[in-house]
Amino acid sequence: MTIDHEVKRRRTFAIISHPDAGKTTLTEKLLLFAGAIHIAGSVKARKASRHATSDWMEIEKQRGISVASSVMQMEYRGCVINLLDTPGHQDFSEDTYRVLTAVDAALMVIDAANGVESQTLRLLQVCRARNTPIITFVNKLDREVREPLDLIDEIERTLGMDVVPFTWPVGSGKRFHGVYDLRHELMRVFRPGMDHAEQKDTTIITDLGDPAVTKRFGANLEQARQEIDLIKGAAPEFDQAAFLAGQQTPVFFGSAINNFGVQEVLDTLVDLAPPPGTRKAIQREILPTENKFSGVVFKIQANMNPAHRDRIAFVRICSGEFRRGMSLKVVRSGKDVRTSTVVSFLSQRRELLETAYAGDIIGIPNHGTLQLADTLTEGDNLQFTGLPFFAPEIFQTVEIADPLRSKQLKLGLTQLGEEGAIQVFRPHLGSILLLGAVGQLQFEVVTHRLKHEYGVEARVAPAKYQLARWVTAEMPRELQRFIDANTHRIAYDAVDAPTFLASFSAEISVAEENWPGIRFHKMREHA
Ligand code: G4P
Repeated sequence: MTIDHEVKRRRTFAIISHPDAGKTTLTEKLLLFAGAIHIAGSVKARKASRHATSDWMEIEKQRGISVASSVMQMEYRGCVINLLDTPGHQDFSEDTYRVLTAVDAALMVIDAANGVESQTLRLLQVCRARNTPIITFVNKLDREVREPLDLIDEIERTLGMDVVPFTWPVGSGKRFHGVYDLRHELMRVFRPGMDHAEQKDTTIITDLGDPAVTKRFGANLEQARQEIDLIKGAAPEFDQAAFLAGQQTPVFFGSAINNFGVQEVLDTLVDLAPPPGTRKAIQREILPTENKFSGVVFKIQANMNPAHRDRIAFVRICSGEFRRGMSLKVVRSGKDVRTSTVVSFLSQRRELLETAYAGDIIGIPNHGTLQLADTLTEGDNLQFTGLPFFAPEIFQTVEIADPLRSKQLKLGLTQLGEEGAIQVFRPHLGSILLLGAVGQLQFEVVTHRLKHEYGVEARVAPAKYQLARWVTAEMPRELQRFIDANTHRIAYDAVDAPTFLASFSAEISVAEENWPGIRFHKMREHA
């Protein structure tokens, strides 16, 4: 009974956008409206210091426990909302993809002046592939922006889903007067510089036919009216099932920095976004309300305290109840992990966690026991699927200035590899490690961290390979035959899965033709 009730009131979502669209600002306002923080500017400040430390996590220590600002939990209208931040830069998109596997919905922020930007598009494709329901917030209406009809059309075209406006802007920039709420048929009047967290301060107009209203908002209101008529004729009715299937997105207009339009988004999350659902494991489907605990590691963040090399594994609870101190089994290794120091991500509070339920994210400090994609259970033999590792698109070799540091280099690369900061490949022949990444920036981060956290001065240089494919076969003997015949092109990843390396895609096609018993994969899904 408790589990049912707790699961039903969970909402776990990620906030995604192209850099600078207003993700940080909106996150902060959502927390503010939910009463989770009281001072505007605190999330912003965290972002600033994150940038100062080269964009990886801002660090806080208290009693040896560190809490990331990348997961935030808040309570609003009886619901427990878990909000997961995603890195904005495309070079860290792998990290973002993995975060998206841990959520049940996404909130997409679009800059109304720029429309759908490249990074948003990539992220949205991941959501679409997983049928993740998406709520859209079009931000910065207080600026001179693009025509709303044009924006709606672009979202619909580029994202390939039906757009259902829930609100519609009346004017923009200096003449931004507010939004018309299509479902409640009223207008909320915009007042710039609102630093109050309370929407009740907003003026609401219900009689739009009132001559005084027409006089006040003039041509902008008239234009909005015409657009709304057009929209009503053209846009489909909101359909909850289509939204949950990721085929329809409700759209809101507003200005995050002015606290305008934020409340509607928060209410929609509570009213329409789904509670945790069923999740797939290789063995069977797992219901969130099952009594036994199960969870999956979707992110590993190197700690905070370089002297101890401890790390936090972010675990999405998939079923059951977490109780502090319970023993959890890492299915991959069969080892147990202690959970006496598990942390929660309650905004502003730095507490040890006592209980948590499906949908929640818990942070387990560990020294390498936990890896990305690991499944944790109370003993059951389950392996969740769906956590993607993408074939790298850039390869580099690593050299070190001081050969005496090679042990540290290996340790550093193993740990950074386990964290997913980079993929490390060990060639079948030879001893030079290969690094694989999706974005160039990942190499910069890795060399920087090797230097500062492991004391290794490493130089990276382009490798001769450009492509890798994970190879599998029905018949283990066939795979072995393939490996033996291609030793110079085989490398093993962090979990010893074999990959085939190539400089040109034609080489892969040829191998595919010659070896019909071997499958070549662009993506590896689980440990
Ligand atoms: P991000 O996390 O998606 O990268 O975006 P962030 O919230 O940091 O916002 C990017 C910039 O856009 C910030 O300005 C922010 O103040 C501004 N912004 C966010 N929402 C709105 C809005 O509704 N209207 C307007 N006009 N601007 C908005 P900045 O100059 O880069 O930073 P700051 O100096 O304001 O901190």
